Amino acid sequence: MSTYILALDQGTTSSRAALVDKSGSIRHMAQYEITQYYPEAGWVEHDPMELIATLNQAIQDCLEQANIDAAEIAAIGITNQRETTILWDKETGQPLGRAIVWQSRQSQSICTELKANGHEPLFRDHTGLLLDPYFSGTKVKWLLDHHEGAREKARQGKIMFGTVDTWIIWHLTNGQQHITDRSNASRTLMYNIHTHAWDDELLRLLDVPAQMLPAIRGNADLIGSVQKHPLLIDGTPITGIAGDQQAALFGQACFQSGMAKNTYGTGCFLLMNTGSTAVASQHGLLTSVGWELSGQITYVLEGSIFIAGSAVQWLRDGLKIIQSAEDTNEAAASLPSSEGVYVVPAFVGLGAPYWESEVRGAIFGLTRGSERNHLIRGVLESIAYQTRDVLTAMEADAGITLHTLRVDGGATANPFLMQFQSDILHVPVQRAAQHETTVLGAAYFAGLGAGFWKDRDELAQYWQSSQDYHPQMDDQRRQSLYEGWKRAVHAAMSF
Ligand code: G3P
Repeated sequence: MSTYILALDQGTTSSRAALVDKSGSIRHMAQYEITQYYPEAGWVEHDPMELIATLNQAIQDCLEQANIDAAEIAAIGITNQRETTILWDKETGQPLGRAIVWQSRQSQSICTELKANGHEPLFRDHTGLLLDPYFSGTKVKWLLDHHEGAREKARQGKIMFGTVDTWIIWHLTNGQQHITDRSNASRTLMYNIHTHAWDDELLRLLDVPAQMLPAIRGNADLIGSVQKHPLLIDGTPITGIAGDQQAALFGQACFQSGMAKNTYGTGCFLLMNTGSTAVASQHGLLTSVGWELSGQITYVLEGSIFIAGSAVQWLRDGLKIIQSAEDTNEAAASLPSSEGVYVVPAFVGLGAPYWESEVRGAIFGLTRGSERNHLIRGVLESIAYQTRDVLTAMEADAGITLHTLRVDGGATANPFLMQFQSDILHVPVQRAAQHETTVLGAAYFAGLGAGFWKDRDELAQYWQSSQDYHPQMDDQRRQSLYEGWKRAVHAAMSF
């Protein structure tokens, strides 16, 4: 009897496994943190083997908690931190060094050179992305440049490239399948979002051999089946894959063009469904594939904010002025306002819509009376202001006015932040009742692929808001606070 979809979410800070039942509810979930490596300033790496080991631990815990046999799993869905890049030897399965994480900046000089040679417009047109170290393409080039003989071996088909989804599938299928999906492919800087294939012209510029790239599938296709896994049954089908932010958009049931969600995690990722139109951004946003279902492509516009929850971690672990993230709500709410204090948390440069990789964080507006709570409030407010920057750009690009914003992720548990977010956007904010929208999205893709659920209409019925926040701030205050933020960001950028 197949009663569950197993959804696997390999993210930046943890690996998770969840069992989702027929009513679209997450019944069991387990997670394990993964080690972050910072070998040099601005570099972030993961151990590829640890990603698999922690995922397996999470699967084991989940099956034990549920007290079920693995035979009760109807299908498996996978979602993952996007852009993170892994190369491995096809024969031995051994990775070539660590995974280069999406946040990592080690390929900055490659981007600078490609830009100096005037290639950015081409990359932008073909991929919907920018020449920024965030994306996989220049990370692959960096790895091939730094491992002797790797490029030649890649040409001979002996070295493989994968984002984290591909790496997981390789392991689940015991090396039978080298596959990615369109949402992950569209974040690599090597995939053409108009022709829907790897782009030979860009591969030549990056000096990446096409032989090392995975085959590309739709999001609810039959990808392969489990082979020789220590915990799962041979033959269990893998019927869903998606990059985590696209999975969250799907898990939020944003199935119609014009619907948007914001996920508050390490960073913030605001995605809007733009239907069958690939909207080319004029305002610093990214155009990516949301998903392909039954041969039909849905595009998204995305604003990627690099630092959100990690600024709260900085208050806790760096400044040590809070003990846990929950403390920030009371501290911020204890003040009537930030009293002119602005924190610009540009710790790894600024992503959308600014794309300034050299800018660093700054605090403005300090007086002798400024204290701990002003900094805490300034950090929370910066998350909301950055979201407004992105939403303003999105509305201008898409020509759509947003009526509500669906939200998920850890920081949505912070009532101060959610109310301030609604106030600053002047848009109602709806917190999803099922907070784990990313794993849910992966389960939804897999469940559609396996016929566990009928269609998107059925899934849309499972979506509920647990809390709605409505704008309460008057126009004048909202405008003047936001203008202060814009002054602070521009001052940080010109420092
Ligand atoms: O683009 C990066 C994003 O996919 C990472 O998401 O949730 O693992 O921080 P997360």
